[in-house]
Amino acid sequence: MSTLVILGAQWGDEGKGKITDYLAETSEVVVRFQGGNNAGHTVEVGEKQYKLHLIPSGVIYGDKLNIIGNGVVLDPLAFFEEVKYLRELGLSVSEKNLFISDRANVIMPYHKVLDALKEKARGKNDIGTTGKGIGPAYTDKVERSGIRVCDLLHPVSLKEKITQNLLEKNKYIVNVLGGEPMDIEGVYNTYLELGEMLRPYVRDTSVIIYNEIRNKKKVLFEGAQGMLLDIDYGTYPFVTSSNTTAGGVPSGSGIGPNMIEKAVGVTKAYTTRVGKGPFPTELEDETGTWIREQGHEYGTTTGRSRRCGWLDLVIVKTSIRVSGLTSLVLTKIDTLAGLPKIKICVGYRLNGEVIDFVPASLEDLALCEPIYEEFDGWDDSVQTAKTYDEMHPNAKKYIERIEELMDIKCSIISVGPRRDQTFKKDSL
Ligand code: GDP
Ligand code: IMO
Ligand code: MG
Repeated sequence: MSTLVILGAQWGDEGKGKITDYLAETSEVVVRFQGGNNAGHTVEVGEKQYKLHLIPSGVIYGDKLNIIGNGVVLDPLAFFEEVKYLRELGLSVSEKNLFISDRANVIMPYHKVLDALKEKARGKNDIGTTGKGIGPAYTDKVERSGIRVCDLLHPVSLKEKITQNLLEKNKYIVNVLGGEPMDIEGVYNTYLELGEMLRPYVRDTSVIIYNEIRNKKKVLFEGAQGMLLDIDYGTYPFVTSSNTTAGGVPSGSGIGPNMIEKAVGVTKAYTTRVGKGPFPTELEDETGTWIREQGHEYGTTTGRSRRCGWLDLVIVKTSIRVSGLTSLVLTKIDTLAGLPKIKICVGYRLNGEVIDFVPASLEDLALCEPIYEEFDGWDDSVQTAKTYDEMHPNAKKYIERIEELMDIKCSIISVGPRRDQTFKKDSL
C-alpha cells in the first residue's frame, strides 16, 4: 500500500482521526483534501488527548509531512490557533512538517458572519452547521469570487478582491439578512498580515503529493465529515459543502484517481449524527441516551449532543459503492458493551418494497422503515482485547455478520479511544 484514503462511512465522528493516527505510524505523508475546521478529530495517545480541526492527524508524530490540500477551506485564524494549541501540547508544528496549498480557498470573516445569519434566516429549516463559515466559503469558490491562499500574498490584487466582495456582501448582509456591515480596510489589513504569517507554509502541494507518491512514499488521505454529509450523495441539504467521498481526493489534492490504491470506510458500531436532518435508525429513547453517555457522544467542534441510533448498513453499503471502499474499519465496539440486545438495520422498507440504498428525496427517506436483525450483546472484556481472537464471541458474530451482509472485510477493529486499543483483522 502506498496510498490510502480514510473516510467516514456515516455522518462523521466515526473515529477518522484515531485511525489516521494509527495508520500514520507506517506512513510518511498525511493529507487533508476537503472540509475545514468544521471537522473535529480526537486522538488519544497514552494519557494525552489531541483535538484536531484543520491540521492533519499525522502531526502527532513529529516526523510526518502534513499537507492541507487545495480542496480544504482554510481559516487562517483557526489555523494559527490550532498551531499554538498543538505546540502547547508539546508537538513540533512548523513549515518543516506542514504545508498549505496555495490554491486552498480562504474562509474570510464575512463567511462566518454569513453562515450565522443565513442559519438564522432559515428559521426552523436551519441545517445546524458548525458556524465556521464552510458553506459560504465553498459558495464563493464555486461562484469564482473566492480568495485563495495565493491571493493573500499579493497586496494590490487582494485589496481589489476584498473590496469587490465586501461591497456586494455588505449590501446582502445589511439589507437582506439584517446584519452589520464589515469594514473593508480592517479586513484587508488583517488578512494581508495573516497572509505574510502563512507564507512559509505555502506550496504547490499537488506537485509535492505527486512526487511523494512517485517516490513510493506512503501517503494517507484523511477525510473529514462522512459519506452522508457529502454535497452530492449525502442527505441534501442537511450536508456539508464538500465531497466527503473518495471522489473528493483527486480534485482536493491535485492527483489523478489512478494514484489512489485503497480506501477504508471508518464505521462506528452504531450511528451518530450532529445537526439537523433525517436519521432512520435514530433512538429517541433511553437506549439512545445510554449510548450517548457510554460513547461520550458530544461534538468535538461545537460540544453539541450527538444523536444516536443503531448501525445502519444501508448507509454503509452506499458508502462502499460511492467511494469504492476496499475495507471497513469498525470503531467503538466497546461502547455497546453491556447492552443485552443490539440491532443492525439491514434494509429499508419503502412503499411496500425493500431497498438497500439511500433514496435521494428526503420525503422518501422519511418514509423508510428500517428492517432490523437482532444480536446478543457482549461485555466490556472487548476493551482489553489485543487481537481479534481475544474478542467476545458475540462481538465476533456481530462483526462477521456485517462483513457477510456488506461483502467486504473489516481491516481494523477499534475497542477504545487509545492508540493501543486498535488491532488489525484483515488486509486494508
Ligand atoms: P472523527 O471526527 O471521525 O475523527 O471522530 P471524533 O474524534 O469526532 O469522534 C470519535 C470519538 O470517539 C473520539 O473522542 C475518539 O477518541 C473516540 N474513539 C475512537 N475510536 C474509539 C473506540 O473504538 N472506542 C471508544 N470508546 N472511543 C473511540
Ligand atoms: P468530522 O470530521 C459531524 C455537520 C454539521 C451540520 C452539517 C453542515 O469531525 O467527522 P457545516 O459547518 O459543515 O456547514 O455543517 O455538517 N458536520 C459534521 N458532523 N462531524 C463532522 O466532522 C462534521 N462537520 C460538519 O453538524 O449538520
Ligand atoms: Mg469529529
